[in-house]
Amino acid sequence: MDTVVSGIRSTGNLHLGNYFGAIRNFLKMQEENRCFFFVADYHSLTTHPHPDDLHGNIRQILAEYLACGIDPEKATIYVQSDVPEVTELYLLMNMNAYVGELERTASFKEKIRKHPDNINAGLLTYPVLMAADIIIHRAQKVPVGKDQEQHLEMTRRFARRFNTMYGVEYFPEPDAYNFGKQLLKIPGLDGSGKMGKSEGNGIFLADDPKEIRKKVMRAVTDAGPVAPDSEPSEPVKNLFTIMEVVSEPSTLAYFKEKHATCEIRYGDLKKQLAEDIIKVTEPIRERINQILNDPVYLGRIVRQGGEAARESASKTVREVREIIGYKPF
Ligand code: TRP
Repeated sequence: MDTVVSGIRSTGNLHLGNYFGAIRNFLKMQEENRCFFFVADYHSLTTHPHPDDLHGNIRQILAEYLACGIDPEKATIYVQSDVPEVTELYLLMNMNAYVGELERTASFKEKIRKHPDNINAGLLTYPVLMAADIIIHRAQKVPVGKDQEQHLEMTRRFARRFNTMYGVEYFPEPDAYNFGKQLLKIPGLDGSGKMGKSEGNGIFLADDPKEIRKKVMRAVTDAGPVAPDSEPSEPVKNLFTIMEVVSEPSTLAYFKEKHATCEIRYGDLKKQLAEDIIKVTEPIRERINQILNDPVYLGRIVRQGGEAARESASKTVREVREIIGYKPF
């Protein structure tokens, strides 16, 4: 059984792609491991030092994860800023993270290009805070996407450097959680590429049926099949891919057949697709709203998770202080 840590951006809003991709894997992961899932609300300050509704964002993303089936009985769910031990480990790790290597980090270079007016020290040391999040539970595994691979590599380096510097075998060097071939990629509605939050091509779990119908009816298609049995164009293939995960196999077969015989009407395809997406997302959306309307429930989950996370975190910080040489008087 591995210890797994995953940080969730507080500017969340899960879409269908997340649901059929990462979230599905999280559900499996929580059955087989000691999992810590937390909302990375300190990290969000590196780019949004004065968020409009920090607390609201945190509540929303927590409600969405819980509604999808992340289970507080199986995994430890908490808010990063409820575990101040993380900031102490972050401070200590900053002492052996070098400015040169931090300046060379791809995400830092991209952020300073995008926000030249806010190149703060928190942005520079973002990978150190992320490393602290992970090693504070002495995790072996971290589920990361491509964009986080370099950060995980730096975490390994910081962990290794700590061990070498103090002559201990204390922190494991965490690896990426390997999902194998199961990671489904859901395309967006704009004709090419995968569904993403910033791409503006997504259907969110919190979208209401009206919104979903509107988005699907506007999805990009083409002028129609060019010849019988011709390969569907990329945008149409994408709609079939979404249909594959939300619709009955017979529905998909029906529309593929209509395409093959050049009788397809994309309007009909989209109407059906919208209804099938609604069937999948509606119960989740209801659950999200139920959780958001029950602050007592959410408060209890977060308090329990925070306490469990602090127990694990404070043990690590105590041992790290000892290793470095701090002693009680
Ligand atoms: N940097 C991650 C992201 O942008 C979020 C994150 C913060 C994280 N701390 C983490 C992910 C620790 C995994 C483990 O998505």
